[in-house]
Amino acid sequence: MSNGPIIELRHVGKSFGANRVLDGISLTVNPGEIVTLIGPSGSGKTTALRCMNFLEAYDEGEIMIKGQLLGYSGPGREPRNRDSPALIAEVRRPLAMVFQQFNLWPHMTVLENVCAPLILGKKMPRHEARRKAGLALAQVGMSDKAESRPQRLSGGQQQRVGIARALALGPELLLLDEPTSALDPERVEEVLDVIKALAVEGMTMVMVTHEMSFAAKIASRVVFMADGRIIESGAPATLFRQPQTERLRSFLAPWFKRPLQLDDTEAPHA
Ligand SMILES: Nc1ncnc2c1ncn2[C@@H]1O[C@H](COP(=O)(O)OP(=O)(O)OP(=O)(O)O)[C@@H](O)[C@H]1O
Ligand SMILES: [Mg+2]
Repeated sequence: MSNGPIIELRHVGKSFGANRVLDGISLTVNPGEIVTLIGPSGSGKTTALRCMNFLEAYDEGEIMIKGQLLGYSGPGREPRNRDSPALIAEVRRPLAMVFQQFNLWPHMTVLENVCAPLILGKKMPRHEARRKAGLALAQVGMSDKAESRPQRLSGGQQQRVGIARALALGPELLLLDEPTSALDPERVEEVLDVIKALAVEGMTMVMVTHEMSFAAKIASRVVFMADGRIIESGAPATLFRQPQTERLRSFLAPWFKRPLQLDDTEAPHA
């Protein structure tokens, strides 16, 4: 693993038409860090995450993945030349994404779902893909469902498969967009446990979440976004205990009516 940052966003801007959704985001994620993005609905968290692996094209600034510029042949503002899909895929290879709605293919088994990106995207031989997929499913405790169809699984189990699919790619950085928000409350814990286990193993992650106490427990850094900007960021104990802005204080108020339990806010592998 290289010592430099896995990803670095420098003044990243993004507009949808006249709506400036990201307004100069700068963020560096080093190996082993767990960064959680929090903030009100519409603040640009999902867009920031999608720009990080060019599922959404950013239009200002730079995103560097392991020192390589993502998406464009040169820095700066528009107009600039977009790289070929093959080159973009190469630059973002260290990243994998876990989606809020799982995005599993219903006509495929669990194992086939996990294999598909390896076979189709990475051109991996089928037997090698099945081996890697089997290991990833074991990692999330889903080996016994390998031959099931996704619709036979609970939401929590489907999301664990979604995580396995990302892990099978061997990522150095996992991007997770509200991985538990589509789940029934009684299914949230099993998915958080899987993410916690990854954290303990040292997986680098950027996770959008509304699970504040979970963010407080596992994050090395919490980043608070509003209106397309990073308003505050810092260690969870500092950020949650001593918010510096009224914006963050009022955002946190509903969650922390009582003092937050911050006994175990150390990142598990720190
Ligand atoms: N594909 C799109 N086309 C047009 N506008 C979009 C698109 N995606 C997002 N937006 C707008 O960008 C803004 C930020 O959206 P985004 O989904 O990034 O917010 P978010 O912080 O993830 O919110 P939530 O907590 O509700 O998921 C919103 O105003 C949204 O309507
Ligand atoms: Mg979102």
